[in-house]
Amino acid sequence: MERAGSGASSPTRLLRLDGTATTLLLIARRTGLPEIAYWGTRLPQTLDAEAVFALRAPDTPNNGPDNWRPLITVLDTIGQWNFDLPGLLADRPDGTGWTADFQTKSLETSPGALTVHGLDEISGLEVEIIITLGLEDVLCTRQTLTNRGTTPLNVQRFISGNYLLPENAGEFRVAHGSWAREFDFQPVSLTQGGLVIESRRNRSHDHYPAILAGTSSTSQNSGMAYAAHLGWSGSHRIAAERMEDGRLRLSVGEYLYPGEVILAPGETLTAPPAYATCSSEGYAGCARAFQAYARSSIIRWPGGRMKPRPVLLNSWEGNYFDLDERRLMREADAAAELGVERFVLDDGWFGSRRDDTKGLGDWFAALAIFPNGLRPLSDHVHAHGMQFGLWYEPEMANPNSDLYRQHPDWALHVRGRPMLTSRQQIVIDISRKDVSDYLFAAISKQVTDWRIDYIKWDFNRDLIEAADAQGRAAYRKQVLALYALWDRLHEAHPELEIESCASGGGRADWGALAHTQRIWLSDNTSAPSRLRIQNAGWHFVPPEVTGCHISHSPNWMDGLSTTLDYRAAIAIFGHLGVELDPLTLPADESRRLKAWIALHKRLRPVLHSGNAQFADDEPARIIRGVTSRDASTGIYLVAQENWPPSRLPAPVRLPGLARERLYRITVPAPQTIGGHRPSDAQQKLFGDGLVLSGAMMSDIGFYLPALQPQSALVLECHAI
Ligand code: GLA
Repeated sequence: MERAGSGASSPTRLLRLDGTATTLLLIARRTGLPEIAYWGTRLPQTLDAEAVFALRAPDTPNNGPDNWRPLITVLDTIGQWNFDLPGLLADRPDGTGWTADFQTKSLETSPGALTVHGLDEISGLEVEIIITLGLEDVLCTRQTLTNRGTTPLNVQRFISGNYLLPENAGEFRVAHGSWAREFDFQPVSLTQGGLVIESRRNRSHDHYPAILAGTSSTSQNSGMAYAAHLGWSGSHRIAAERMEDGRLRLSVGEYLYPGEVILAPGETLTAPPAYATCSSEGYAGCARAFQAYARSSIIRWPGGRMKPRPVLLNSWEGNYFDLDERRLMREADAAAELGVERFVLDDGWFGSRRDDTKGLGDWFAALAIFPNGLRPLSDHVHAHGMQFGLWYEPEMANPNSDLYRQHPDWALHVRGRPMLTSRQQIVIDISRKDVSDYLFAAISKQVTDWRIDYIKWDFNRDLIEAADAQGRAAYRKQVLALYALWDRLHEAHPELEIESCASGGGRADWGALAHTQRIWLSDNTSAPSRLRIQNAGWHFVPPEVTGCHISHSPNWMDGLSTTLDYRAAIAIFGHLGVELDPLTLPADESRRLKAWIALHKRLRPVLHSGNAQFADDEPARIIRGVTSRDASTGIYLVAQENWPPSRLPAPVRLPGLARERLYRITVPAPQTIGGHRPSDAQQKLFGDGLVLSGAMMSDIGFYLPALQPQSALVLECHAI
């Protein structure tokens, strides 16, 4: 019998990766893959390896295994002493190869990176796991699995990232949702057993591929918080499990459909990258880390640098399918007058597509509306100095379309079964070279001919019976083909920007964001809903890549009427858009909208580069903001959702500014003072400004004039 940490499990090396504020500690042992010993707040530079080894060797129960194994490794498998949630499930046609026991063949370390090679000679499996941790405190894991056997390997699961959470971090916030109510965080407390969140539709309205975790006392701004995110736009699986000995682990990975990954001998499967962070500054700390990492390492801007995000007008909610070339030109004139910088023509411009029942897939201009194609409208838009954007939904077709009539075999569909449609459309198999070549050629030519600066790339239905022509599941192939098509378009048109839309929120993950420059968070443009959706979404993605639009009131979706100021205050923090017919706006609203757009342009350098701030949760009010990286500026939103729980709303407390510094807080135009009998301080706030220190703002707070439900104020703070 071997005691813990002796014999085969003897430690050989202590490995560490450090970020700015966090450390990942691993122990290499004589057998097996490295053990995750610790992930949390940064540890002192000098650590006694022997002491750490001793800490990670608990006693062995009498009736337990005689060969002690590490508590949690970078990839746990099945059929060994750890009965944990397996990170790999695979087998061979004769039923062998189902269990894996990897031995570390090599360990390479470099600053901020660790590469582990593992081999199981008996099962014929090889893994490579690369873990990096950089200044932003985000762990990135990339792993591959290679079939070193002589027969095919059928892989049912191969996770992307495996994390050890402290035993008390079983309070999860799960981003559940559905179309139009995406990112609806739900608390789930895991005391025993497991928590599995699977999205199996290649769109993630139901479950965003990310999760937050904390202890019962973690809040937005204090306590240890953990966050994980899978960079993948297909089906996915997030699983947490508390083992019988109390350990708590979290893993993220793809959800594989049966038969999707059958590796021939010598073939390699590359898992999507997984990302994770932890922070002692609560969930807001994780949000800041994720936003910073997405900026530095995920998003790729044309030309290598983000240009100011152009305020756009999107034609959808102002026109729907009722398109008229001359009117659109007049809308473009009015948009330019408002300060809009990009005009986007949405659905309905092509083929016979006058409603959503036909023409989808026929990517040629509807000559009845645009007799000379889209170039005249594009030129008209460009003449105003604006960019021109166009809507496509390339992966889809209506059965009632020329495309489908000519290529019925392109549909993803189980041959012999009735065709299942959704929104009257089918999905085409873009993993076929002829299909992706066709789409690339059609779109690329229009980008050139029509001077398209921006594509709104939609994806308006789930994948259901996604079988290729051979009848095999093609969910995963579809995502890889999409990424390749996006990259090909970017290579051919280096200035082109693409938005990942997917009915809003369906493809808003870092996998999509690595190939696009904007995500549409939700089709729900109603300001009260957007306030919540953006608040949650900005825990994972930075605001400058999230489309946030000011739309008509009453809102088309929920019928709610709200003031323009409320809608604008909520929208200006993101990539601002206007989604209404500017020709129908009353003069006063036009003036105010123009002022809000001007305000956004003035503030966007900070809004789109600073540190996210979220005040702790309140029952009827949301306070959040952005502070510049040098803490000299803070822009905040105070949004009243409902009546406050007491007559006097609590003082507003603004987190994130330098405690010792003095700031002048103002309420920028076009906002004006409200409330009944404002105090002197409140009048100052709306006048020359109120001067307070960072500590006074974050700890003592100040009273705003009472805000009615569904009203909001944007506050601007500058160090003096
Ligand atoms: C989806 C998008 C909308 C709009 C419509 C057009 O729902 O999310 O913004 O483009 O399609 O059909």
